[in-house]
This record gives sequence, C-alpha cells and structure tokens, in this order.
Amino acid sequence: MDILEFYGLREDPFRLTPDPLFFYSSAGHNDALQSLHYLLKQREGFCLVTGEPGTGKTTLLNVFKGECGDNAEIALILTPSLPPEDFLLAVLDDFNITAAASGKNEILRAFRDFLLKKSEAGLPVVIMVDEAQNLPDETLEELRLLSNLETHKDKLLQIILFGQPELEQRLGRENLKQLNQRISVRVKLKPLSSAETMDYVNYRLIKAGKGCLRLDDKLLKPIHHFSSGIPRIINLLSSRAIMSAYIEGSNVVTPRHVRYAVRHLADNAAETGNGSLRRILHILTALIIVIAGGMTGYRYIEQRFITATAEKNLPLQRQHGEITSQAAMTAEKAVQENPVPASENVQTVTVTVQAAHVRSGPSIESGSLSMVTNGAILQVAGEFKENTGEKWYKVITPDNNEGWVSGRVVTVE
Ligand SMILES: Nc1ncnc2c1ncn2[C@@H]1O[C@H](COP(=O)(O)OP(=O)(O)OP(=O)(O)O)[C@@H](O)[C@H]1O
Ligand SMILES: [Mg+2]
Repeated sequence: MDILEFYGLREDPFRLTPDPLFFYSSAGHNDALQSLHYLLKQREGFCLVTGEPGTGKTTLLNVFKGECGDNAEIALILTPSLPPEDFLLAVLDDFNITAAASGKNEILRAFRDFLLKKSEAGLPVVIMVDEAQNLPDETLEELRLLSNLETHKDKLLQIILFGQPELEQRLGRENLKQLNQRISVRVKLKPLSSAETMDYVNYRLIKAGKGCLRLDDKLLKPIHHFSSGIPRIINLLSSRAIMSAYIEGSNVVTPRHVRYAVRHLADNAAETGNGSLRRILHILTALIIVIAGGMTGYRYIEQRFITATAEKNLPLQRQHGEITSQAAMTAEKAVQENPVPASENVQTVTVTVQAAHVRSGPSIESGSLSMVTNGAILQVAGEFKENTGEKWYKVITPDNNEGWVSGRVVTVE
C-alpha cells in the first residue's frame, strides 16, 4: 500500500511545486497579493517583490496571474538571464505579437502598437519576471526604457520583478539608480510566523484530503523552529516526517519523526552535494545552534550535527537501525557477496564537509556509526560503486572502527 493510500490522502500535501491550488494566504502573502492588485489598478509602473528562497514568490506570481484572469494581458518570463533583445523577443512571443521586421526598432514599434491597443480597450499590460536577480544589467536597463512608454495620463506597461533579496541590493547600485527610483511598490515576503506555520501545515493537509493522518500537538513547534517559517523547508520537513511515520506504520506524526526528517535532510545535503539542500543544511545547523541555547529538548540534535562524537545511545539511531531500508540492505548484501579488496598501498581519503557520517554499509540508508569532521584523514580498506556510479569508501576511522563514507564527502589522496 503506498503512502497516499495508507493515509487516505488524495494527493501529496507537501509537493514542492508552486501550485496555486495549495496557496495559503498568510498575512504577508495576502498583503503582497493586494499590493500587486493595487499596482494594476493604479497603473503604478514598476513593482519589486523580494523574498528569501522558498518564501513563495513563484507561488504568489502564479496566484496573481490566475486571479487576474482575462482582466489583464500578462507576459511571464521565467528565464530572465537573456540579453536585452532576446528578452524583448521573449516578451513579444508571450504576448503573441509579430513584428513586421526583425530589427529592434520594428520590435519596439510593434510592442508600442500593442500597448496602445490594449490601453484603448482598458486592459492593463503586465510583464512579470521571475528569478529577476538573474537579469543582466543591460536587460534591466531595457526594462526601464520600456517602462517609459506612457500616455499623458497612464503608464502603458506594468512591470513586476520577483527576485531574491540580492536583487534589491543590486538595484541600489549607481548604474541602476534610475530604475530603482521608478519602483513605486516594494513587497518583501517574510517567512511564516509560528501560528501561521501550524495553519499552513494543517491547511495543506486538508487540501490534500487529510484522511486518517494525525499530527501530534507538539509537532508544529519543532517544524517552525527547524524551518524558520520558510514554506519550502516546512514542506520538506513535513513530507519527510510523514514518510518516517509511514515507515513505522503509524498514523500519528510526532516530534521524533520531525527530528528524523531534520537529520535526513542534513544527510542528503552533505552527501548529495545538492546546492539548495546545502543551503538548507546551513539553515538547519544555524537553527540548531540557536535552539540549543534555549531549548534543551533539541540538545541531542545539536550534538548530532555540531560535534563529531559517536552517537551510540541516541534513540533515533536505534530507530533508524530498525527501519534500515531495502536499499541499504541490498547494498550491504552486494558488498558481502562481492568484497572489494583494499589496495596494497595504504590509500587515504580526507573529509571535505563539515561533518560526515561513517555508515554501517555503502548506502545513504545504512545506519550511521559515528561522525568524522572536516580535514579528518581516513585509511581506505575497500571501495564500492553503486549502480548510479556513486562511490563509497570502506574506511578505518582514527579510533580504529570500520565503516563506509560516501565518495561525495571526501577527496582521495
Ligand atoms: N503561501 C503559500 N501557500 C502555499 N504554499 C506555499 C506558499 N508559499 C510557498 N509555498 C510552497 O513553498 C514552496 C516554495 O515556494 P516558491 O517556489 O513559490 O518559493 P520561491 O520564493 O519562488 O523560491 P525561490 O526563490 O527558490 O524561487 C512550494 O512548494 C510552494 O508550494
Ligand atoms: Mg521561485
């Protein structure tokens, strides 16, 4: 029985897509949405929406576009790292405008005609750019020039830039000053508050059908602490925590499952080399440091990530041992059947991440025996290659224990 059937859910409640159907209107998201409608109504010209990764900019953009429906002409540019002329062509393409000839003058003329026609029909025209922090300076300048298109009364074109906070800093630079001055509406998306985080999780669950899945009352506080209220991290944590409860066959998700989720995400970040997950690891590690100061309940997690000591008595590890997945067992079995001898010369690897797990088998699913920190030199006793090409090294740790480390977290001497 798969996880959705098991809990009687219609769909995955914590998918990582910016799906407007799952939009939760937090105070901040609602303000932002109202500001965008205001921009449209007042024909204000330029608007900037910024927020940390995962705070919901793309989701907001999709919701706004959906709410505008046929009451506005909207071009959506999702790959903004285009030079000015290609950017203009992408805009024209999105509006279905065909220029009589291919030169820039012709393109601009066709665009202006389109704007005037829509203005006469009383329809606002909007260009929305997602990931606008990737716009080259020259394309930003082109946008500024476009925003000059106006009649005596109104701006003919509204431009909304969605980007990460560094975009705001960039716009503060001397060469982009003129554009910066034209931005009349600025919206900053903030992470969710603790109460909103709880609402958000429940809301998404209800949207997905909820079924027989129950959340322990104490669950949402750690989710908020570990996610810092950032929806994408809330989704990742909730989804992992539910998976952990499912593996145990439990229909109640508890704080222990959240701790498992935190650990799993941190492991993935360290061992897959995934950039955005690494960012999450940093956030989680920072949070753990903060939390460790005030919340004794999470002390052991702090220990888990920040110190390199063995974790022999941690309950989570025992639990993890009991639920060792099929993948880990398969990998361990493969090694037993086809042992790879160590090379005759003593080979070593050096740990290149803040903290790496030494595992009982050559798989990310194998239980963690201990941890080694950045710079530790480990003697290699064997190797294993997964079907995916991922390498694992059997190592002897400084305290003379054997275990496996992922090739992603070490360099080979
Ligand atoms: N208000 C919200 N309601 C429901 N889900 C949300 C909301 N805000 C964010 N999410 C969820 O969080 C995840 C990340 O959201 P989104 O992609 O919109 O963030 P972003 O700010 O565009 O991130 P990035 O800067 O990385 O592009 C998505 O799974 C989305 O469904
Ligand atoms: Mg986005």
